[in-house]
Amino acid sequence: MADRRPPRRRRHPGEADPPGTAPRRAALRLIDAVLRRGDPLDIAVHAATQGLPPADRAFAVAIVSETLRWMTDIDALIDSATSQILPDDVKSRAVLRIALAQLLVLKSPAHAVVSTALPLVAGGPRRLVHALLSRAQQDGWQLPDTATLPPATAERWTAQWGEAMATAATAAWSSAPPLDLSFAAETSDADWPDTVQLAPRHRRLPRGHAVETLPGYREGGWWVQDLAAGLAARLLGDGEGRHILDLCAAPGGKTMQLAAAGWKVTAVDASAKRLARLTENLARTALSADVVQGDIRTWEPASPADAVLLDAPCSATGIFRRHPDVLHRIEPAQIAEMAILQSELLTRAARWVKPGGLLVYATCSLERAEGEERITEFLAAHDGWRIDAVTAAELPEAIAPDADGLVRTLPGLLAAEGGLDGFFIARLRAP
Ligand SMILES: C[S@@+](CC[C@H](N)C(=O)[O-])C[C@H]1O[C@@H](n2cnc3c(N)ncnc32)[C@H](O)[C@@H]1O
Repeated sequence: MADRRPPRRRRHPGEADPPGTAPRRAALRLIDAVLRRGDPLDIAVHAATQGLPPADRAFAVAIVSETLRWMTDIDALIDSATSQILPDDVKSRAVLRIALAQLLVLKSPAHAVVSTALPLVAGGPRRLVHALLSRAQQDGWQLPDTATLPPATAERWTAQWGEAMATAATAAWSSAPPLDLSFAAETSDADWPDTVQLAPRHRRLPRGHAVETLPGYREGGWWVQDLAAGLAARLLGDGEGRHILDLCAAPGGKTMQLAAAGWKVTAVDASAKRLARLTENLARTALSADVVQGDIRTWEPASPADAVLLDAPCSATGIFRRHPDVLHRIEPAQIAEMAILQSELLTRAARWVKPGGLLVYATCSLERAEGEERITEFLAAHDGWRIDAVTAAELPEAIAPDADGLVRTLPGLLAAEGGLDGFFIARLRAP
């Protein structure tokens, strides 16, 4: 289909956008922030949706999340209908992407989708956009059953983990993850009917609950945390009053677990904003920790600790189900950069463990460079340190440690129960 420019439509003075355009405009700004500037979606949301009422803001985020999740398939549809491939970064492609996500995924009424899409291409090929959206309806365009992973990710993961993992990741990418709660104390089935318990002090709920309306939210006996995200702190056992450094701690999911398990926690993070959330989380759950703002590349504790947990900053490719922007933003160069930082942080963290103490290293990444390879490098450079092998008995059923006693959760695990985020965890013992 030719990209012929229609005659410019005259806007009458005072003429407003059709109703419902504002959240779509915000969605367009958000897509641009993620795809062109590489900003994380949850950070870009604030600026891109400023001034919108909460329902419009939520709609804008839903449009963008589904656009990103289905983008490879949406692009294939767009490309099948144009005689010349639209460049990846032109506004008309972005408008078509968000409009088709509304039509084909969110099932928004077609007239609303079209009337709010056209003002977004002001000055651009409105006729082309209009023609493609009409064709999508007339020809009954449909998306496949599962959303295709971005090709670069599929290639990278197949090379690292094999075809089966990439297939499982595709299934995980296509369905909304369940809601996992971690509890400060054990719970009963009677108090939490219709939930699945996959580990002590854990409950899994189907998606769709407004967290604030769940029982006990105000009382603070639980917090939202994917089962895989909760494994690292579990592997440190009960604290019995011993001191732990929780490094890269905010927003505090693991801090709360450690405090609830009886550790005396010092929670350190570089980000004041994220530490404010950690402090709020501790207040809501009535758990306590010493909270310290510091960059652990330069910060030092006053004395070594009985144990250290380093939940290192990473590419976050393991949480792609909840953050569909990640797979469109992260490129090999960023993974390599994160790996260098992780090695630096791991080396510093190791200095602060008392002799014979434990160091747990975790990343929510599905890249070996941010997991297994960091540990191999660390052990080669640090005499006397060894892997404290995790046993199957310490993990929820269906999750097994690898042959070295390291933990790697891959898509496909617990798939029938709603799956798991991708994490890597190593437990190391100081000399
Ligand atoms: C994976 S998140 C931590 C999640 C947290 N442990 C939890 O369970 O809720 C990584 C954290 O590392 C922090 N961070 C990144 N670089 C850091 C550094 N050099 N020093 C201290 N914190 C850092 C970030 O601010 C971010 O909060």
